Amino acid sequence: MIYQIYPRSWADSDGDGIGDLAGITSRLDHLVDLGVDAVWLSPFYPSPQHDAGYDVADYRNVDPLFGTLDDFDRLVERAHDLELRVIVDIVPNHTSSDHPWFREALDSPPGSLERGRYIFRDGRDGGPPNNWTSRFGGPAWTRVPEPDRTAGQWYLHLFDVSQPDLDWTSPEVHQEFDAILRFWLDRGVDGFRVDVAHGLAKADGLPDTTGDSLPMWDQPEVHDVYRAWRRLVDTYDGERILCAEAWVESGEALAHYIRPDEMHQSFNFNFLMTPWRADLLRATIDDSLRHAAAVGAPQTWVLSNHDVVRHATRLGRADATSVVDTSGIGIGDPQPDAQLGLRRARAATTLMLALPGSAYLYQGEELGLPDATTLPDAVRQDPTWERSGHTDRGRDGCRVPVPWSSEGPSLGFGPGDPWLPQPVVYAELAPDRQRGVAGSTFELYRRLLAVRRERRLGTARIAWVDPTTVGMGEDVLVFDLVGRETRVIANLGAWPVDLPPDSDVLAASDVLEDGRLRPDMAAWLHAAG
Ligand code: NOJ
Repeated sequence: MIYQIYPRSWADSDGDGIGDLAGITSRLDHLVDLGVDAVWLSPFYPSPQHDAGYDVADYRNVDPLFGTLDDFDRLVERAHDLELRVIVDIVPNHTSSDHPWFREALDSPPGSLERGRYIFRDGRDGGPPNNWTSRFGGPAWTRVPEPDRTAGQWYLHLFDVSQPDLDWTSPEVHQEFDAILRFWLDRGVDGFRVDVAHGLAKADGLPDTTGDSLPMWDQPEVHDVYRAWRRLVDTYDGERILCAEAWVESGEALAHYIRPDEMHQSFNFNFLMTPWRADLLRATIDDSLRHAAAVGAPQTWVLSNHDVVRHATRLGRADATSVVDTSGIGIGDPQPDAQLGLRRARAATTLMLALPGSAYLYQGEELGLPDATTLPDAVRQDPTWERSGHTDRGRDGCRVPVPWSSEGPSLGFGPGDPWLPQPVVYAELAPDRQRGVAGSTFELYRRLLAVRRERRLGTARIAWVDPTTVGMGEDVLVFDLVGRETRVIANLGAWPVDLPPDSDVLAASDVLEDGRLRPDMAAWLHAAG
């Protein structure tokens, strides 16, 4: 069970309105209380913060915004004392344009070694070298003035203009990242979450994108990088892991990243991207387990992170049963049904936490936090909003600082004004309103994690039960965790479902009325045998 901390939004110790490492260290007890095994920290490295730290200017230090290397060491020490492992984010697809390498590249002529660390090309017919677009909108190429001030070459940036892509055909890039991995492994980290893992290699000749052909993603050469990294992490003691952030099309392609000699895990975004519908969820779960098993790896599960609308909000969208829309919501947009969203989110989590493998939780989901869906556009910071020409509101809504108490400045996040304003509803969702309160989202998560651990569900095998054989409709998901005396029932239908009389309910996503599982509820039952 791995809990994602987005450092700028978890806990602010110094009152500048932005979370920091000392803040994280001071709040780690919350994670012990919750019952997770590890934390993954989104980037805290020196950065101009044009993409909230995913634009790294120095891979071996801590941005003063977040503290110092000593603060980092203290965080790791405290986490390890609490038996929490620490996974850090590594961003190998691109650096910040403030990185010394990129500055050197700009000061050097076309064809130089310095330019060769990035993807600089001459233009085509007066325009960019090809038709690729940035993930944040707009062209993926920007033209630079040459040192003699004439209009010059173009550089590739699959993300923001301040995130030039590295050229992974350069041996120097490989050496540099080996050294970066060692730097953090030597400091005691337990692993890396690898940003844009599917992007490092680009098809030879950088051909245009046509139809289904996307020559910038999931090229075979990326796997050579991860084989080498696996060899490197395996030279360290203990268990150190690599986890891929790879948005690839099929479960099969994703499983390539977790072959025995590559990474240990990859985020299963197919699960996150499945509409709230029983047949589709069942198919995704089956596919996911099958593809992971084919390469002998554990599957992972995830419903929320810092790039998508939180599932408590997403599942309250009007069309959540047919499509998954992860794009940000703002003033003037249709507002999701918050109550329905939370009910479904709790059911979805109850379903997810029964599944074998490893799950990633995003900070605040254990409180049932919704996205901030009415942020004034003027406060938005995600480059998506500007780059899309104000058509995509981006990801600020899921990045709002978390509440720790129902009162006080920034709801206990820190002594200063938070870098994004918190929705009013965050006050009543703060942990001091939920801890020890029967039926709260926090207590639900604690219960699910405790039972999962006790019953060792993470290593179980699932066996589907045809719902119609147990008196339930097709819209109900039913499965057993084989050998763990546990049955899971999730009601995605429109009618309440009667649980068997005298059911021994281990956990339920909401209050059961007359032994019935209402629509959008899930439960775990003790099932003898
Ligand atoms: C994926 C990260 O999760 C996201 O936040 C970031 O914008 C892109 N990669 C680019 O680094």
